[in-house]
Amino acid sequence: MKKILLLPGDGIGPEVIAQAKKVLEHLRAEHGLNIELEEALIGGAAYDDCKDPLPQTTLALAKQSDAVLLGAVGGPKYESIERELRPEKGLLRIRAELDLFANLRPAILYPSLAEASSLKPELVADLDIMIVRELTGGIYFGEPRGIRTSSDGIKQGFNTLVYDENEISRIAHVAFRIAQKRSGKLCSVDKANVLEVSELWRDVVEAVHTEYKNVSLSHMYVDNAAMQLVREPNQFDVVLTGNLFGDILSDAAAMLTGSIGMLPSASLDSQDKGMYEPIHGSAPDIAGKNLANPLATILSIAMMLRFSLNEIELAKKVEDAVKRTIEKGLRTADIAAGEQAIGTNEMGDAVIKAL
Ligand code: IPM
Ligand code: MG
Repeated sequence: MKKILLLPGDGIGPEVIAQAKKVLEHLRAEHGLNIELEEALIGGAAYDDCKDPLPQTTLALAKQSDAVLLGAVGGPKYESIERELRPEKGLLRIRAELDLFANLRPAILYPSLAEASSLKPELVADLDIMIVRELTGGIYFGEPRGIRTSSDGIKQGFNTLVYDENEISRIAHVAFRIAQKRSGKLCSVDKANVLEVSELWRDVVEAVHTEYKNVSLSHMYVDNAAMQLVREPNQFDVVLTGNLFGDILSDAAAMLTGSIGMLPSASLDSQDKGMYEPIHGSAPDIAGKNLANPLATILSIAMMLRFSLNEIELAKKVEDAVKRTIEKGLRTADIAAGEQAIGTNEMGDAVIKAL
């Protein structure tokens, strides 16, 4: 029996997790998936409950689980509270506490969604990119950080972008192993023309490369990578990058596939224990309206089945069910290009029907 912890969070999080829960319960009832589901608070919902965006009870449950499925955190209501207590801090803390350093963000275009892409259909045909983002280091976690006042009374905000060679090397190994299983092409994205941390990043990635001779490695500056992603995205297969650049590039890559509401992610530790989440945020503007696209979360279940539960066949079934649902022309508002849109709930039901 595998234990799965559901963390709905804030905004559209509870709505998309409700659909994911239905799908998991269906897999348990009809496809022999041996799981036990639990639910806990994180983010703003946890702050409202006990003034802590990552309560001890939630962290303890996450540590005891085989996998975690998270909705989203954050919202305007929490923007003015002290930074340490903000919803996002709960997410960053759980990533760090569980040592989920490897964040895999696949950007795949479903052919029938080509029209929904922000690029011309011919530019995104067959798009299939895997962004491997370092998730527990870099400027997100670097110290010192803060806002200080200089001696002449001027306020200054500061953060530290720091990576040590072990952090770079372990994420590079993950990316090379993934590249080996795909087309054998890896592009490492940095800002080595300006940043020392990127210079070290390149050196370490080069050193790790000597262990993966069958992978061809290239390097690209992040500004150019952003441009290339919207110019000719199909030149990329696996992209390896740090925490901040990966955050930005994965949102851009998402739009190429039609909607950020389509992209799942897996955040793994060195044992492939993981937390799975849609890459979209809490989307407060559409929360509670049955408008959110639950497919990124449902596709995150497929990643969970594959990476943490070793249920490869079921993972394929879920992916296939999503694909067929889209092919039938069913669309939530974010991916509807003229079609009549259906709601969050109805999309969840449609995937279960396709299963
Ligand atoms: C993401 C999100 C988070 C991040 C936020 C909510 C802290 O944008 O998962 O991409 O920046 O990592
Ligand atoms: Mg992001």
